[in-house]
Amino acid sequence: MSILVTGGAGYIGSHTCLELISAGYEIVVIDNLCNSKLESLKRVSELAKKDFKFYNGDLLDEKTVEKVFFENNIDAVIHFAGLKAVNESITIPLQYYHNNITGTLILCQIMQKYNVKNVIFSSSANVYGIPKNAPVTEESPLKPTNPYGRTKLIIEGILSDLYISDHNWSISLLRYFNPIGAHESGKIGEDPNTNPNNLMPYINQVAIGKREKVNVFGKDYNTHDGTGIRDYIHVVDLAKGHLKALERVLQTTGIDVFNLGTGVGYSVIDLIKSYENITSQKIPYIFTERRAGDIDRCYADVTKAKEILGWQATKNLSDMCYDSWNWQKNNHNGYTE
Ligand code: NAD
Ligand code: UFG
Repeated sequence: MSILVTGGAGYIGSHTCLELISAGYEIVVIDNLCNSKLESLKRVSELAKKDFKFYNGDLLDEKTVEKVFFENNIDAVIHFAGLKAVNESITIPLQYYHNNITGTLILCQIMQKYNVKNVIFSSSANVYGIPKNAPVTEESPLKPTNPYGRTKLIIEGILSDLYISDHNWSISLLRYFNPIGAHESGKIGEDPNTNPNNLMPYINQVAIGKREKVNVFGKDYNTHDGTGIRDYIHVVDLAKGHLKALERVLQTTGIDVFNLGTGVGYSVIDLIKSYENITSQKIPYIFTERRAGDIDRCYADVTKAKEILGWQATKNLSDMCYDSWNWQKNNHNGYTE
């Protein structure tokens, strides 16, 4: 069984590649390395003790995508490739729409041509925008508030239309909450190319002394300690969710959407305290203004993934903090030597 992983060199992609190989799948990866490094895939190979084919290519380049399908017998696609920074998407929306949507259109056209109709797509809790209630179910209103989230919602719509047009498609839309953590080996993890926007990579950089302190965005949210609550999920749990979705996609046809989170929300201060406790690293922080667009709380109702995929997260906040730190302390500069 051969699985094409787009964006496989990235943070979630690399962890999923490792789980796929460990479960006995053949994998083929395409990535243009615009937000990742080849080293991540080398380490996946080392950890898995197995080589796999890598195409250094762009989904926007139809010829390369076609070459991948021509040269390999692909059974299913796990589609991670995309630009993902919310703030950047507000500054350069056209690049986000072009890369994420056109890239997906080209991929789907070639899949159709080669009669490969099994796909898992990386969507995001961002599609819910500002949820009225938590936990958020898959039925909650979809109102993304930025171009990044809109690309995800548009792609969900494109894939739904594909299924309506041809019931041989089998599609799983996975809405991730907040992935953090790293593989327990400390060999692969999140390696942001630029200044981290997200909380955990920022905490990691404070822990290794690259930054002085964490700026906690707002202390007057309607939560137990006034800081924003999110559903942090260990990246390895998330990767395993893809294997469950893959089993289903390979066995059935249809389109389904699943929240992938733990179902439990933690505040910014909860996360910092848990990190300090488990790693014995001091994380200085100060309170600053709220970040525009942030919300009080967002965590998932994960009933559907549990009932239909038979998947649920197993790792707790301490595991996530420990593994994040373990990756960072072993790789001060990420994948760069
Ligand atoms: P990442 O940036 O680490 O990985 C994405 C990969 O896609 C990168 O390796 C990048 O080089 C590649 N890529 C981007 N555009 C490409 C193109 N046109 N052609 C070929 N390769 C391309 O991001 P990640 O955190 O691993 O996220 C993976 C997916 O999950 C993304 O679609 C992202 O939007 C989604 N997602 C991520 C989060 C999160 O917090 N990390 C949350 C929800 C959803
Ligand atoms: N935060 C800080 N300081 C920082 C960074 C973040 O206090 O330096 C706070 C935020 O205000 C928020 C929480 O930490 O309360 C989490 O923020 P992140 O930026 O880590 O994550 P978000 O929930 O804002 O967004 C992330 C991804 C989105 C994705 C969403 C849900 O960036 O793309 O999770 O999956 F859609």
